[in-house]
Amino acid sequence: MSHIVVLGSTNMDLVTFVEKAPQRGETVTGREFRTIPGGKGANQAVAAARAGATVSMIGAVGNDAFGTRLRSTLEQAGVDTGRLRTTEGDSGTAHVVVDDDGGNAIVVIPAANGTVDHLTPGDEELIASADALLLQLEIPLGAVLAGALTARAHGVRTILTPAPAQPLPVDLLNATDLLLPNEHEVATLTGRTDPRTAALALLDEVPEVVVTLGAAGCLYAARDAEPLTVPAPEVTAVDTTGAGDTFAGTLAVALAEGRPMPDALAWAAAASALSVQRPGASESMPHRPEIDAQYTS
Ligand code: RIB
Repeated sequence: MSHIVVLGSTNMDLVTFVEKAPQRGETVTGREFRTIPGGKGANQAVAAARAGATVSMIGAVGNDAFGTRLRSTLEQAGVDTGRLRTTEGDSGTAHVVVDDDGGNAIVVIPAANGTVDHLTPGDEELIASADALLLQLEIPLGAVLAGALTARAHGVRTILTPAPAQPLPVDLLNATDLLLPNEHEVATLTGRTDPRTAALALLDEVPEVVVTLGAAGCLYAARDAEPLTVPAPEVTAVDTTGAGDTFAGTLAVALAEGRPMPDALAWAAAASALSVQRPGASESMPHRPEIDAQYTS
């Protein structure tokens, strides 16, 4: 089995399902409220574990009820939480509004995630032992960079989801093997709205870029290959929260298993297509047999 390490966030998602998200100054009545474990880091960890890898999570939860549930969700998915710290205070939360088209808007309060600002020697040892390191931007940037540099020093493939979108230091891009932005994130990083132009521009700093395009699939660009578009299966989305995380976790597993990139991208797209048909982030993520069935159908 491949070994994936995730360095990143855990959030309790406070999710409101509503026909149409309110505009500024507007009040609307929603349909349902749920608390669903999420956080980009934890989501990617669950996705990778369900896709068949051995997964370890480095991060933090608060010493509140949310923290207990976030930890146990990871453990139930089979994720090793030995390096998931419990800190004094609140767990991270994400305030999510999901509309009837499956689209969402999210405000994240980092709380415990903000304490993940350095790596311990044990964290570094764990990263050094991995086949791949998954990173996102919901913990302090210094720790993300430290993780990427540790991975680079030990020949571990680094996959960075640059979300929430923000300009990134060149050091971090240069320590990344595969950058995995969506359309909005790639525009923030490059100032270019055309995903293909933006992805090609990023190749100056990163050897491989995959831009996720939602229902349109994804675009792969690499320094040594022609750009490639991989379509997504046609499905009806009820909640796209965590779809990108499903893609990242599943893709990491496929690549760690040595699958060729086009095949790995199609497998990850199959997993994402399954996840958007169910509500919630971590709860919607498919297990390997389902991914295989969707991939071959
Ligand atoms: O990528 C989806 C995730 O973003 C949600 O689970 C939420 O916690 C936010 O971090």
